[in-house]
Amino acid sequence: MKKTSNKRKNTQQTRRGGRSGARMNQNQKARSAKPMQPKPKPVKVKKAPAPTSSEHTQVIQWYPGHMTKTKRRIEKDLKLVDAVAEIIDARIPISSRNPDIAHLTSGKPRIVLLNKCDMADSRATAKWVSYLSRENVRAIPVDCKSGRGVDKFVPVLTELLTDRIESYKAKGMVNPSMRVMIVGIPNVGKSTFINRISKKTKAVSADRPGVTRGNQWFTVSKGFEMLDTPGVLWPKFDDQTVGEHLAFTGAIKSEVMDTELLAVRLLDLLKELNTSEFTERYKLSEEDLSVPSYELLEKIARNRGMLISGGEADTERAAYTLLDEFRAAKLGRITLELPQ
Ligand code: G4P
Repeated sequence: MKKTSNKRKNTQQTRRGGRSGARMNQNQKARSAKPMQPKPKPVKVKKAPAPTSSEHTQVIQWYPGHMTKTKRRIEKDLKLVDAVAEIIDARIPISSRNPDIAHLTSGKPRIVLLNKCDMADSRATAKWVSYLSRENVRAIPVDCKSGRGVDKFVPVLTELLTDRIESYKAKGMVNPSMRVMIVGIPNVGKSTFINRISKKTKAVSADRPGVTRGNQWFTVSKGFEMLDTPGVLWPKFDDQTVGEHLAFTGAIKSEVMDTELLAVRLLDLLKELNTSEFTERYKLSEEDLSVPSYELLEKIARNRGMLISGGEADTERAAYTLLDEFRAAKLGRITLELPQ
């Protein structure tokens, strides 16, 4: 065995703050007087039991940073606009909607864009449009990826702002320009919408009085301008279902939760919905749908050839696949939330 030289031993002791010949200040003395902490024993990690079904829930906590700063910026920008277009996810119109929006927008005319309607159940989307209109909210189903429905935006906005435009004209303004701001929680498609609608038009760099420096306004249509920076709101986790629905659709990142448990919870829903895309994709029989959801996840893993050494089902990989395929609407056009 290699011998440790005395010189080396001394150096090690000095590094630990033990027998250094240098003078110690009061703090160092107090620290060195403390008894040495015993080395912590390695903790054995017990593998969590396999999630079975709805009895297992997980608390999803997710707070994007700089909430207060963002809120202040939105409040500041809102003073510059005549209307607000709120983008929500048509698959989860409740969970993807920040309930504070009405208060935040302080009574400004508001349009709701039910985005990603290409992935939502069209009958459910129609129900949402009529529900929101009963609540006096103009809602437009859109698919910003393909552009479907986006052309309705300006006509609806014009209708919504008619009184305001007339009152500006009555005050002597010639061709008043209405300004709109886009708001929504992360991942609902705000940037996609802004890119789509602003592509057709030329950007105008309007440094107007009161406009936050760096803000860009796009002419959406004659008489309408849109702020190019959307207001990013945060989702509200009022209950566990909200967190789960946001996680199923990918609005919140998978890293903050147990993917297998999330997949099991999604399977609880998919078993009930029983879409042909779901059963055909994973080659599932009626009988398969009656087993507990964790067993179903194992079945899906096996049917897809996802195995680990020893022939065990790779449920983790199957969980990721299931969530990815649900998010890409490969399991059917599914709306998880319906109006009451
Ligand atoms: P955000 O600004 O609100 O955060 O959302 P963003 O526009 O970045 O959109 C988030 C994701 O949703 C993007 O996918 C985008 O393509 C997709 N998306 C937006 N609108 C629609 C829609 O109407 N239908 C569908 N199917 N998808 C939509 P991504 O995978 O993150 O990016 P990318 O690979 O598509 O560029």
